[in-house]
Amino acid sequence: MNSQPIGIFDSGVGGTSIWKEIHHLLPGESTIYLADSKYAPYGERPQKEILQLSIKNTEFLLSQNCKAIVVACNTATTNAIDYLRKNYKVPFIGIEPAIKPAALNSKTGVVGILATRGTLTSGLFAKTSALYAKDRKVIEQFGDGLVPLIENGMANSEEMHQLLQKYLRPMMEEKADYLVLGCTHYPYLIPQLKKILPTSVTIIDSGEAVAKQTKTVLENFQLLNTRAVGASYIFHSNADEKVLASLLKDYKQKIVVSHLDF
Ligand code: SIN
Repeated sequence: MNSQPIGIFDSGVGGTSIWKEIHHLLPGESTIYLADSKYAPYGERPQKEILQLSIKNTEFLLSQNCKAIVVACNTATTNAIDYLRKNYKVPFIGIEPAIKPAALNSKTGVVGILATRGTLTSGLFAKTSALYAKDRKVIEQFGDGLVPLIENGMANSEEMHQLLQKYLRPMMEEKADYLVLGCTHYPYLIPQLKKILPTSVTIIDSGEAVAKQTKTVLENFQLLNTRAVGASYIFHSNADEKVLASLLKDYKQKIVVSHLDF
């Protein structure tokens, strides 16, 4: 049994969608979440910079004695996780867009994926898509502008609705029956997406799969903490932490949210 915390980082507030799944599955695990909102969005930055930011976040979480790190950001995973795994001793868990279940279950043979430019242009994404969806039509759509709106607490705005309508149109015209959310911020858009998409379209994200993978990795490394009490859940943001706190309002009795310059 190991009571050190799990470290989780994202370019901002979106990775809280992953934290919720991890916390649901592993409530006895302490967590330290780092929202690098000052530098969001990562998806529109060059690979070198995404790597530098991922290293900075990792170093901080290691300085807090984290036993494993969840890279709760698709863009950081696709651009930095290989480097992190090679250069640090703790296990890293990353996020891959859920193309596999979408490709397997699609009846129309057409799958839409909404993700950042940084994710969709990465080598890792191309490999995943070629591996699992080679006999499917995959409609890729950059989600430019979506992350900044979420970071500013505007997930339900008219501006967001207009952008989503524009981004979803090509995949709807091609009769996609699955929409893969390839960014951890996007689960916060599900209410808006449901207003636009026909009910025949299934929306999938990676949250639950990542939580299960986190548990498996902790078990494999004998790092799992099975105690049900005494865990702490700390959230740091280097920007205005109000949006972060609002996404976590259902947990406010037990979490600590603080501003931290990093
Ligand atoms: C971003 O910072 O651009 C989005 C993060 C992600 O890809 O999950």
